[in-house]
Amino acid sequence: MPPQIHPTPAQAASACATLIEEGLLEAAKQGRNFTLCLSGGSTPKAVFFLLAKRPDLPWERAELYWGDERYVPVDHKDSNFRAARDILLGSAKAAAVHPMPTEAEDPAADARRYETLLRGRWPKEPAPAFDLLLLGLGADGHTASLFPGTPVLTEAERWVSVVRPDGDRAPGAALHEGPRVRLSLTPPALGGARRTVFLAVGESKAEAVRRTLVDADTPAALVRPTGAAPLWILDSEAGSRL
Ligand code: 6PG
Repeated sequence: MPPQIHPTPAQAASACATLIEEGLLEAAKQGRNFTLCLSGGSTPKAVFFLLAKRPDLPWERAELYWGDERYVPVDHKDSNFRAARDILLGSAKAAAVHPMPTEAEDPAADARRYETLLRGRWPKEPAPAFDLLLLGLGADGHTASLFPGTPVLTEAERWVSVVRPDGDRAPGAALHEGPRVRLSLTPPALGGARRTVFLAVGESKAEAVRRTLVDADTPAALVRPTGAAPLWILDSEAGSRL
């Protein structure tokens, strides 16, 4: 599926929001829930703002999950859940909201807790079968918290892992900005969605987009859905090296 390249970040965000709206409406029409896994970072906030303008959507049919989370309290400025809560969840009254737990002061226990939740929701599936999995892309080619050089990249069994972005950095390498500990869905867990959408905007992502789609040598390239291939929604800057 060729990438969608939109003139502006706003148009890219609008295309992404429309996919989510359409999926939610279709699920509701079929009398089932729509399971949506959200990404973190700043890019999806524009999508959250657009979705927050649609309280008329059948949010009572939405189940929300997260693809990764910084291991901080939910009110911390870096919390991915907090961003969605403050922008979207005030108006979008979802049926079920499942943030990644970060309160046990034990990341491994919280990772196991989230994995138990996901496996309980999809007990017969080889991976969480989200209706739509929304992912971002870092300038270094990471997605979720699959950071270059971290052990999670070779995780083949677990669905949720603890990730320390600086855990395996080369001596003298720059420290990762932001929280030192994260929870993340693993490559196997990121491969089960019915629809996987990457949203990336800005010149800073252009080389990571090219490396992922052309060279397939980034952590984001490890996201290989068993179903439909990922759809990439880009603005002209992020798509400028394709
Ligand atoms: C996170 C995200 C991460 C994000 C990229 C891009 O927790 O940070 O899940 O994978 O999607 O880092 O972040 P921006 O959208 O802020 O550029």
